[in-house]
Amino acid sequence: MTSDATASGRPPLAVYIHWPFCRSKCPYCDFNSHVREQIDEARWNRALLTDLERQADLAPDREVVSIFVGGGTPSLMPPDTVAALIERVRALWPVAPDLEVTLEANPNSAEAERFAGFAAAGVNRLSLGVQALDPAALRFLGRGHDRDEAIAAIALACEIFPRTSFDLIYARPGQSVAAWNAELDEALALAGSHLSLYQLTIEPGTAFGNRAARGEILSADEDTAAALFEITQQRLAAAGLPAYEISNHSRPGFECRHNLAYWRYEDYLGIGPGAHGRVTRDNGVKLATQQRRAPEAWLAAIEETGSAFDEMTPIPRGTALEEILMMGLRLAEGISRARLEALAERDIEDLFGAAMERLIEGGFLTLDRQRLAATATGRQRLNAVLAALLA
Ligand SMILES: C[S@@+](CC[C@H](N)C(=O)[O-])C[C@H]1O[C@@H](n2cnc3c(N)ncnc32)[C@H](O)[C@@H]1O
Ligand code: SF4
Repeated sequence: MTSDATASGRPPLAVYIHWPFCRSKCPYCDFNSHVREQIDEARWNRALLTDLERQADLAPDREVVSIFVGGGTPSLMPPDTVAALIERVRALWPVAPDLEVTLEANPNSAEAERFAGFAAAGVNRLSLGVQALDPAALRFLGRGHDRDEAIAAIALACEIFPRTSFDLIYARPGQSVAAWNAELDEALALAGSHLSLYQLTIEPGTAFGNRAARGEILSADEDTAAALFEITQQRLAAAGLPAYEISNHSRPGFECRHNLAYWRYEDYLGIGPGAHGRVTRDNGVKLATQQRRAPEAWLAAIEETGSAFDEMTPIPRGTALEEILMMGLRLAEGISRARLEALAERDIEDLFGAAMERLIEGGFLTLDRQRLAATATGRQRLNAVLAALLA
């Protein structure tokens, strides 16, 4: 179950690096992100490099196609640490001629001052967490930046980086179609080649999750959310940034190469606390890796033993099939029929039978000789489509 080779003949590898710290915790966020008074930056620099070097042994002979520094808030990292990590990746593997290096940034003015340093470190794609262009929505989402800072950060990012993207969160409580349309107008005027537009989800254990459990309404109702999703698809396609994934839109050719690696079920290493990976070994077995989540426990384990895996397990064929479907059906391009059939050792019709026929007739899936894909309607209801397919 190896991935397709790159032009060099080597299988592609994506490298994710997690920075687990933020200035404050947003009430909707269940990412592995933590607020700390003090961060020993030199220790974190050394530990992330150690993790990278040790994990390189899991995936030799690859070509690195992308590095993604995510979080948390990686724009709080010292640019020197980012530079050292990129340099070490280049020393450990051959890299693709068009290596994509993304860093997630918060659009606070203090962090925007570091953008030039990140570009000098080798970052060539900046992904900004704008979340809203409406001041009241920014307050509701508990963001540490205001609208003007966000707009200034987008403009600066577009000047400094060859590729930029920003994130918005919609389906907020009380958000009307007209209001979202107006916000999309502004977003499209500001956007570079890529936009990530997420529906607000209320996650258990977050501040919003706790408030919702007490009965507060913190997101749009289902019908409004569906209407907002539909206009998002239409508006972005009309503007030349069609959806290539449920929440991700780009001009053709500007898709995020790194996230495509997850959705295409290619191999990736997860460096840093809580990061997970998927790595195919020489014997063809794909391993799932998961690192210790708590930053301090991760740091101590790396310093003591050079490694902080909580889990490293071979993925059984049935699970791999589920994962490839869960990931691949998020993409407009869908999944290669040949790859699915090789993994299942069966014809796709035989594998999914009448359930797949019904989903095709209902307009949720398409199938041709090359690919199985979810339609936009199918992608909007992906959990139900997957449940029907895998039942
Ligand atoms: C790791 S986070 C962001 C990075 C950066 N710290 C920031 O907040 O700008 C990645 C993105 O996930 C999205 N996100 C996080 N939690 C979400 C939620 N509960 N519902 C919808 N989108 C969410 C946000 O758009 C966020 O920018
Ligand atoms: S949304 Fe971003 S800034 Fe807010 S807590 Fe999550 S990772 Fe940190």
